[in-house]
Amino acid sequence: MSYINFNNAGSSYLTNKTQKIVKDFLDYENIVGGYNAENLYKNKLNEFYLNASKLINCDPKEISFLQNSTYAWNFFLNSTHFSKDENVVILDNEYGSNIIGILNKKINYKISKINANGQVCFEDLKNKIDKKTKIVFVCHIASQCGDVIEIEKVSKLLKKINKNIILVVDACQSIGQVNIDAKKQKFDILVGSGRKYLRGPRGTGLLYVNKNIKKKLSPFILDIKNCSVKKGEIFIKKNLPLFEVFEYSPALKLGLSNAIANVNKIGIKKIEKKIKKLSAFFLNEMKSFNQLVFYENSKLNIGINTFSIKGINSSSIYNYLLKNKILTSISNSQTSMPYFKKKKINSVIRVSFHYYNKFEEVKKLKKCLIDLIKK
Ligand SMILES: Cc1ncc(COP(=O)(O)O)c(C=O)c1O
Repeated sequence: MSYINFNNAGSSYLTNKTQKIVKDFLDYENIVGGYNAENLYKNKLNEFYLNASKLINCDPKEISFLQNSTYAWNFFLNSTHFSKDENVVILDNEYGSNIIGILNKKINYKISKINANGQVCFEDLKNKIDKKTKIVFVCHIASQCGDVIEIEKVSKLLKKINKNIILVVDACQSIGQVNIDAKKQKFDILVGSGRKYLRGPRGTGLLYVNKNIKKKLSPFILDIKNCSVKKGEIFIKKNLPLFEVFEYSPALKLGLSNAIANVNKIGIKKIEKKIKKLSAFFLNEMKSFNQLVFYENSKLNIGINTFSIKGINSSSIYNYLLKNKILTSISNSQTSMPYFKKKKINSVIRVSFHYYNKFEEVKKLKKCLIDLIKK
């Protein structure tokens, strides 16, 4: 681990055990054959659903293993039937690719605002929802801003207005970072990425579909894994993850399963607490440097901190830190078009901590930023 990884919201470091599981299974496939290896590891592979369902408090049958959040999100969207006049509502922190998904399907959409304190403007959300609103999309923690959105409050509001509105949660950045509870928060759909706060391998993700919603969807892709054809008619097999297809990477699924088991073992509350401490430490260390402008509400933030430095552009900051072996990332208008338009900024530097980061590493980051400001 020679680079300090403060780009956990991009992809975090795997534990040694998760990395070994993935590598070992790839080796095993080359000894006993890919299909045979999968068969011999059937029970272990099925543990993925148990681990994921334990993490978000749902039924294992409501989970599908997919390759990333974007795929999971689009799988859901393209499995949903829209009549012409129906609309969806997004918040103004929505992820760029999700907006592209809506534009691509030519769905009517409205943008509801998030207040300056980083929380949903419930008055505005209420006003944006009408009789034809089919879905409300909530980005639990945005890519470009670490404030945590109160999904439970959103869900309560929606159920009061119209219980048929589908609540979709993009938990790409929040899963593994904060507690997610399908039964308590009462969302209908959730997408999550494996490589970020879950510390899973790249190319992994999951989709949660509440069993009551499942009945209303027509899976966008059907194949021989979950269907059979008799006399030209398709029959969907019961009790199979409806949003998976035949081919996938068992090695990566085992890796993600182990990563999630690890989160369950440590406990999400403990993880969240450590991450929060790192953010608070960083903000405190930097507070006397008023050249830095931070964009989170420190009361709502866990591990994603974004900032700009007066007079220094984001790519110079990013490159300087990279030269010093510190990984961060840049978010720009394509990350979330409405967010950057509202903030009237072009880009921010994102520093995202995970529980395995050390306070000493944060001190090194501070030193580098001060050196850069003084240059
Ligand atoms: C909030 C949010 N949603 C969705 C995505 C897309 O996730 P993926 O790259 O796993 O498809 C990202 C990626 O960073 C994200 O930050």
